[in-house]
Amino acid sequence: MEFSIKSGSPEKQRTGCVVVGVFESKKLTLPAELLDKAAHGFIADILRRGDMEGKAGTTVVLHNVPGTLCDRVLLVGLGKEKEFREKEFGNTLRTVIKALNDTGTSDAAIFLTELPVKKRDLAWRMRQAAMIALDSTYRFEDYKSKKNEQRRPLRKLMFGVERRNELAVAEEAMKQGIAIAEGMAMARDLGNTPPNVCHPTYLAEQAEALTKEFNLGCEVLDRAEMEKLGMHSLLAVARGAHQPPKLIVLTYQGGKAGEKPIVLVGKGVTFDTGGISLKPAADMDEMKYDMCGAAGVLGTMKAVAQMALPINLTVIVPATENMPGGNATRPGDIVTSMSGQTIEILNTDAEGRLILCDALTYAERFEPDTVIDVATLTGACVVALGGVASGLFANKDSLARDLLEAGEDAHDRAWHMPLWDDYQEQLKSPFADMGNVGGRMGGAITAACFLSRFTKKYDWAHLDIAGTAWKSGSDKGATGRPVPLLANYLLRRAGKID
Ligand code: BES
Ligand code: MN
Ligand code: ZN
Repeated sequence: MEFSIKSGSPEKQRTGCVVVGVFESKKLTLPAELLDKAAHGFIADILRRGDMEGKAGTTVVLHNVPGTLCDRVLLVGLGKEKEFREKEFGNTLRTVIKALNDTGTSDAAIFLTELPVKKRDLAWRMRQAAMIALDSTYRFEDYKSKKNEQRRPLRKLMFGVERRNELAVAEEAMKQGIAIAEGMAMARDLGNTPPNVCHPTYLAEQAEALTKEFNLGCEVLDRAEMEKLGMHSLLAVARGAHQPPKLIVLTYQGGKAGEKPIVLVGKGVTFDTGGISLKPAADMDEMKYDMCGAAGVLGTMKAVAQMALPINLTVIVPATENMPGGNATRPGDIVTSMSGQTIEILNTDAEGRLILCDALTYAERFEPDTVIDVATLTGACVVALGGVASGLFANKDSLARDLLEAGEDAHDRAWHMPLWDDYQEQLKSPFADMGNVGGRMGGAITAACFLSRFTKKYDWAHLDIAGTAWKSGSDKGATGRPVPLLANYLLRRAGKID
């Protein structure tokens, strides 16, 4: 899709479709009013007849609107003006893209980004609009033999701004939105790709392709190299798998040489059967999404590289399958992690923390400014927060606050959970330094507590995305979260958003 920005009035646009909004009840927005004036009351007339009341989610397509140069006008209902906030703004754009796809137009001029959204400036509106517009055209049809081809797919979108002097700001924000959506699309593709294709080697290849596209640094460690480093916790998970494990490291140098990097670590379990602690059969296919942490940090890397942000960023992905087998780890096995701490593996299904802990120890060598890990870590987090918020844990409150705010801003929200010492007791083992599970109570928290034992040397946050990384049911699929949250956080760190 091609995006552009123009300052100009809606009636003067030569395009397949001009899109303007109407508030409840029947209140024209400024661009709609301009159109109506040029059309001598044509639109007001439509409203009067009751074809459009301005209710959120409704649309009407008009043809042959007098006084205009466009083929069609799409009126979109915005709901109550007083209640038009972030969420309504986003929903409106999704509605518009869907309606445009249902018409025969291949290009459109959208006059919605000038509408005020409480507390949000033009840059926010442009970034969100571009991101949502692009993200809502996402399809995953690589494995359908008959593609659901659109007659005339939407190819060009133009957004209107009121004043010429807003063009530069709008342009930059739009590019950010596009970059974030492309990062999300990468994350969604990786998540949706079936687990017989998307195995650790495939993840490494995709990371390498990203490296080539953006000239990043890339290193992929294999089993032997991990052994040398003493990553016996990670390797314990890989024992049952026939697919070889990989530790993928990408580096992006947009900041000053010598500036400490921000490190993102993503859980890359390309399929989680539970191992010897085998999962039940129902919905087990969804455990192909157990690499969505990896997908999220790789997608964020793509967005950052495309925006050319002035920061240094390192991405680490421990990647393996979690399979049962004659050589697989047994419940009761004790391993020594790279940190030197010993772990009694009581449940082989708590494998995410076992691969992350070694990756988090490995992160020390980059002398990080901040480390953020992202993982589909616990079913308990899904029980606690559902599909709305990701679970957020941090060993530094100001870091948690920054991430919460980034999530609010991007409408990709997280909720701060406790990491109090009181929970650490649940990880006691009679035989090793710790067990890998803490019992049923507070499962998302004890998982985070486990990780906290490996992150004492730097500022660290953990995002449990088990509930937010994909959707089940009729619109099953990866969501691309938390790419918007992370990209927003990094835009702030780069000084592009204050
Ligand atoms: N990948 C799962 C977590 C998960 C489960 C995410 C369901 C989304 C939906 C993780 O590896 C896991 O199996 N966790 C266990 C931990 C338990 C054994 C302590 C869980 O949550 O049941
Ligand atoms: Mn598991
Ligand atoms: Zn898992």
